[in-house]
Amino acid sequence: MMKICVLGLGYIGLPTALLFAAHGVNVVGVDVKQSVVDCLNHGNLPFSEPGIESLYGEAKDRFFARTEPEAADVFLIAVPTPLDPATKVSDLSYVKNAAEMIAPHLREGNLIILESTVPPGTSERVVIPRLEKSGVAAGEFLYAHCPERAIPGRTLQEMAGNCRIIGGYDRDSTDRATAVYQTFVRGQIYQTDTRTAEFVKLMENTCRDVNIALANEFAQLAEECGINVWEAITLANKHPRVTVLNPGPGVGGHCIAIDPWFLTENSTRCRMVATAREVNDSMPNYVLHIARSMLAGIRNPTICIFGVAYKGNIGDTRESPAFKFIQLAENEGYTVRCHDPHVKEFPHSLMDATDAVAGSDCLIILTDHDCFRTIDPAGLRMRTKLVIDARNILDHEKWTDQGFAVRVLGDGSPIQPVPLAGLMAPAGLYPADATRPVAPSSSPSFSLLSPNGRGGYL
Ligand SMILES: NC(=O)c1ccc[n+]([C@@H]2O[C@H](COP(=O)([O-])OP(=O)(O)OC[C@H]3O[C@@H](n4cnc5c(N)ncnc54)[C@H](O)[C@@H]3O)[C@@H](O)[C@H]2O)c1
Repeated sequence: MMKICVLGLGYIGLPTALLFAAHGVNVVGVDVKQSVVDCLNHGNLPFSEPGIESLYGEAKDRFFARTEPEAADVFLIAVPTPLDPATKVSDLSYVKNAAEMIAPHLREGNLIILESTVPPGTSERVVIPRLEKSGVAAGEFLYAHCPERAIPGRTLQEMAGNCRIIGGYDRDSTDRATAVYQTFVRGQIYQTDTRTAEFVKLMENTCRDVNIALANEFAQLAEECGINVWEAITLANKHPRVTVLNPGPGVGGHCIAIDPWFLTENSTRCRMVATAREVNDSMPNYVLHIARSMLAGIRNPTICIFGVAYKGNIGDTRESPAFKFIQLAENEGYTVRCHDPHVKEFPHSLMDATDAVAGSDCLIILTDHDCFRTIDPAGLRMRTKLVIDARNILDHEKWTDQGFAVRVLGDGSPIQPVPLAGLMAPAGLYPADATRPVAPSSSPSFSLLSPNGRGGYL
């Protein structure tokens, strides 16, 4: 029976290890964090993901966690490959360390699979030479890069159902890795070489990032033109060869916000990818700009952020645009409250929905959690009735009916007049004019031109 040693028991490594074990493979899961190993060996899971508990139940007789690798037929590396935020260069230290940990156990005929996302050429330049320190040469051991493309929230479904790219060092490596994945993968398997596989994974996420940046620029242009980008996108997407993505308050997550830098870190010529990153990274500034316009005249504003996860219906906050938005809003002098029913841990304290909105001046939807779509505005006890919907998920008519001034990211169409009483600030907020409406009467009064002239809002 095959034995696999999986290095890295995080969001990717653990589900992969459990899928192999649930399909009859003996799996040793290795993590350098003793807490992760202890958690698993006590029958618990270090994080939640739909379906993972029952999978663990099926896998646990063939899965053991350790802090050190041991001899196996296959070694699979799924360790982090973060971006150094200062230099925008990949940090390959975890991958290097994993390869060095495998080397003493490596034997002729073993297969080593790298699942971690890496810049093109990393397998040849960084991983294989470290594995060869074992005294066994590439060719005598088999090697493949098999990038992972599953998304949080659907990890198990996608790991088994998605097609996969397998980039082998040589023919034998590619075929052996294909056979190993066929243990549980139902999707089509496409074979290539290691460097192409590394490149393809980065290309996919870069393509999404650039297209989101384009949607974000469309949103800003639409506001300048006085139209609603969401309606415009729906119409443009009726074209059989056009797919415009949705704009939003920024791009987060472990892949799309990072992988484009991996693709370009060795390039001296390419500019579009970096510009797209800049546009997407500037979207929290753009949302702040909208908030500043709406909150003008309110003394000591309190804002309430709904959603700090980087995307809807998950609790993952890695690279979430909420971090930057919160920092900008606090620097602006706002008191910031956050609510996210999916997130368990966050550096800014999380409040329950009622406490977060109570007495606040502006509700800002940053994440498209389904539960936010049906919020009843009638039940909100806010000091000032302002809402910014950066994801276009609210029933805006319902909110304006309850007296809210609603701003939707990308909607520059004139706002329907709202009953004046609903827009009144509570007495005492405006010493000079206590009846001054809080919200502007129409969006074109905002200055939406990009200050840096490059489409970014930095
Ligand atoms: N999470 C995703 O959605 C996703 C999707 C596609 C690809 N990826 C890629 O997969 C890789 C892993 O990502 P992740 O999200 O699972 O990371 P993660 O941070 O959730 O987990 C990585 C685990 O590896 C452990 N680790 C670090 N060095 C180790 C070593 N030498 N030996 C054993 N364990 C070690 C860490 O302690 C951690 O528990 C990254 O390259 C990432 O870019 C992630």
